[in-house]
Amino acid sequence: MKSYNVAVIGGDGTGPEVTREALKVCEAAARKFEFKLNWHPYDFGGERYLKTGEVLPDSAVEELRKFKAIFLGAVGHPQVKPGILEKGILLRLRFELEQYINLRPVKLYRAVDCPLKDKGPEHVDFVVIRENNEGLYTGAGGFLFKGTPHEVALQESVNTRRGVERCLKYAFDLARKRREGKPWKGLQPEHLKAGKTAQLTLSGKTNVLTYAFDLWWRAFQELAPNYPTVKTDYAHVDATCMWFVKNPEWFDVIVTDNMFGDIITDLAAIIQGGLGIAAGGNINPEGASMFEPMGGSAPKYTGQNVINPLAAINAGGMLLDFLGETKAGAAVENAVIEVVNTRIKSLAAGKMGYGTREVGDLVAAAI
Ligand code: IPM
Ligand code: MN
Repeated sequence: MKSYNVAVIGGDGTGPEVTREALKVCEAAARKFEFKLNWHPYDFGGERYLKTGEVLPDSAVEELRKFKAIFLGAVGHPQVKPGILEKGILLRLRFELEQYINLRPVKLYRAVDCPLKDKGPEHVDFVVIRENNEGLYTGAGGFLFKGTPHEVALQESVNTRRGVERCLKYAFDLARKRREGKPWKGLQPEHLKAGKTAQLTLSGKTNVLTYAFDLWWRAFQELAPNYPTVKTDYAHVDATCMWFVKNPEWFDVIVTDNMFGDIITDLAAIIQGGLGIAAGGNINPEGASMFEPMGGSAPKYTGQNVINPLAAINAGGMLLDFLGETKAGAAVENAVIEVVNTRIKSLAAGKMGYGTREVGDLVAAAI
C-alpha cells in the first residue's frame, strides 16, 4: 500500500478544529482508495510563541522541507502583534520552501451561496494562479528618517525574469491541462475553430506599473506560442474585480502577481460562497507544498464547534491531488459538493445547521 508522510500545522484559533475535520475526511478517502497517510503534527503558532518566544526555529524549516506536503490550519493570534506569525510562519515557509505558486480554485457549488443574483455553478468555475514568492511581499524597501516629519517609507515590488516566467509557465500548463478533452465554455466559435480549448488571463496594471507589468507582459507574450491551445487574454486588475462580479463566466485561468493575487482571491472567495469554502495551495512543483483554507484563524469562534471546516477539507482534497491521489482528491471535492447541496443551510460560521465536527462526519460519510 502506498503511504505518504504529511506535516500538519494546526496553528491558531479555529485552525486546529478545521484541521481535525480535514484530516478526518482525508482518512476516509485514504481508506476508500487504499493508501496510508502518516500525519506529523507541529505546534507552531501564537500559543507556542507566547510561551517560548519562538516562532519557527530554523531546524523546523529544514525538517518541513523533507515533506512533499504540509497541511496548515491558520495563523494569527489576538495577543500577538499582526505580522509576527504571518511573516514568521506562513510567508517564511512560502519563501524558504520556494512555494512559488499560490493556486486558488474558485467554484460555486450551489447558487444560493453566491451573492451575484442569477449566477450559478455554470458561471463560477475558474482558478487564480498567484505568484507567491516575489512582488511586494519580499520585504524589499525601508525607511528614511523614520519617526521624523521627513520620513519616507519605500516598499518595493520585486519581479524577476525567472520568478515571473516559472509562474506563467505553471499557469499555461494548468490552463492546458484543466481543459484536456473538454473545451472551456466561454470560448467563442472562432477560437474553437482555431483549436483553442482554454483561456489564460494575465491580470495586471500595465498602464501604471510600467516596469513590473512590462516584464510580465513580455514574458507572457513570449511563452504564448508554446501553448497553441490556450487563448491568451489580458485584464487590468481593477477591471478584473469588476468582471468577477459582473461576468465571472468570462474567466478560466487567471495569473497575476503576489499582491494583486492576494486581493482578487478574497473577492473570488466571496463569489463562491466565502472563506468557509475557499481553499488554496502554496505549491513548489518539485518540493514541499503547503495547503491551507483561505480564511484566517477566526479566534472569536475558537472551541465552539461552529466554524465551517469545508475550506480546510477542500485544502485536504487539493493536498491528496498533489500527492498523486487524483481520484481521492476528486472524491473529497464531490463529497463536499454533495454535502453542500443536500445538508448545509449556509456556509457561514454558526449557520450551517450542523457543528464543525458533524460537517466533517457528513463529508467523510459521503466519501
Ligand atoms: C493569504 C493571506 C496572507 C497573505 C496573510 C495572512 C499574510 O491573506 O494567504 O491570502 O497576504 O498572503
Ligand atoms: Mn489574503
